[in-house]
Amino acid sequence: MAERYAARSAGMTTSEVRALFAVAARPEVISLAGGMPFVQALPSGEILRVVTEVITDRATVALQYGSGSGQPSLKIRLAALMAEQGIDAEPDDVLITVGAQQALDLVGKLFIDPGDEIAVEAPSYVGALSAFSVYEPRYLQIPMDDDGLSVDALEASLAAGARPKFLYVCPNFHNPAGVTLSLERRRRLVEVCSRAGVPIVEDDPYGMLRFEGEPLPSIRSLDPENVIYLGTLSKIFCPGIRVGWTVAPAGTTAQLTLLKEAADLCSSNLNMLVAEAWLADRDRWTGTLGALVDVYRGRRDACLAALERHFPAGATWTRPAGGFYVWVTIPEADTKALLPAAVARGVAYVPGTAFYADGSGRDRLRLAFCYPPEDAIEEGVRRLGELLAGLPVEPAPADSRAR
Ligand SMILES: Cc1ncc(COP(=O)(O)O)c(C=O)c1O
Repeated sequence: MAERYAARSAGMTTSEVRALFAVAARPEVISLAGGMPFVQALPSGEILRVVTEVITDRATVALQYGSGSGQPSLKIRLAALMAEQGIDAEPDDVLITVGAQQALDLVGKLFIDPGDEIAVEAPSYVGALSAFSVYEPRYLQIPMDDDGLSVDALEASLAAGARPKFLYVCPNFHNPAGVTLSLERRRRLVEVCSRAGVPIVEDDPYGMLRFEGEPLPSIRSLDPENVIYLGTLSKIFCPGIRVGWTVAPAGTTAQLTLLKEAADLCSSNLNMLVAEAWLADRDRWTGTLGALVDVYRGRRDACLAALERHFPAGATWTRPAGGFYVWVTIPEADTKALLPAAVARGVAYVPGTAFYADGSGRDRLRLAFCYPPEDAIEEGVRRLGELLAGLPVEPAPADSRAR
């Protein structure tokens, strides 16, 4: 049958991150690989109560098809949440999607013809690269440093004639780089992109997972006419609910809604009503978010301390002020080739190559500190450090439950 597949699916392979989930799920492996939220910290009894209330009080809506752009009551809540983030949005500006991941797919479908150039950060979220690649773009990779995407490099590419269909950025606690785009760069970025007529896709799953410091204005708040903002409840509530959304200029929202309806008619009313009921109790949802942030901050600290203790001289890493990820550079290492040896020693990470459209990044790796407890993070980083130092290591104990 495969010879009948469309050409665009020919290059599609299982993402490196997804392939890793299988090995990383083995109980003896400490997984610093997948960015899985620590859902064990959620109040499951409370969530059960919310689900029961929705089914009890609103069954005829919850169990029915809904509007293609999303449950109106949830759109009102999300518009209010956006206003708190400094983003001016009417409920009609919000399109609810199946996670931010569906929004990435819809953006790709709307903008990319085969061979079109799009600009992405190098490195970029692997799921965005997978979503866009289905539409066969050429990638213009823009380098990053500790202040996020290099606006100078973008400007230079534009001056040299590049005209990407859009620029995709993850400005807060970047996946995988862990860094945050500085305020000065945000301001310059909107100017540069507006002048060149390049729309910005701002993907912001982690912005509310801030461990310290003051939030920065979203890119959308700096230039609403040229920015498509993507939000999600996956990291501030739970990914199982699959609620994400876009806030875009009106014409773009209308087009994205048509594409969304063509893909799935509508998101799950049941999930959207549960999300709405969850957000209706401010103390409850912000309290839960605060508890999650405390857990992740402790794990970030454990990860950074373990890196200091165990990683070889010459290795460098980012110091995220929020989110899930630390990005490590190890000159001379081939992190892709090292991965099987790491897994054999009971620790998993994602090699840097997963995050570059051109497959570079062999001297990089991503550590996700969100899921394993602090002692497991310390042990996982220790095992990796030993591997990198070329020291003989003990095999992982077969009965270890640490993940
Ligand atoms: C940068 C980024 N964008 C989008 C997503 C997709 O999130 P969602 O669960 O909302 O589909 C993720 C998930 O890890 C992510 O890290």
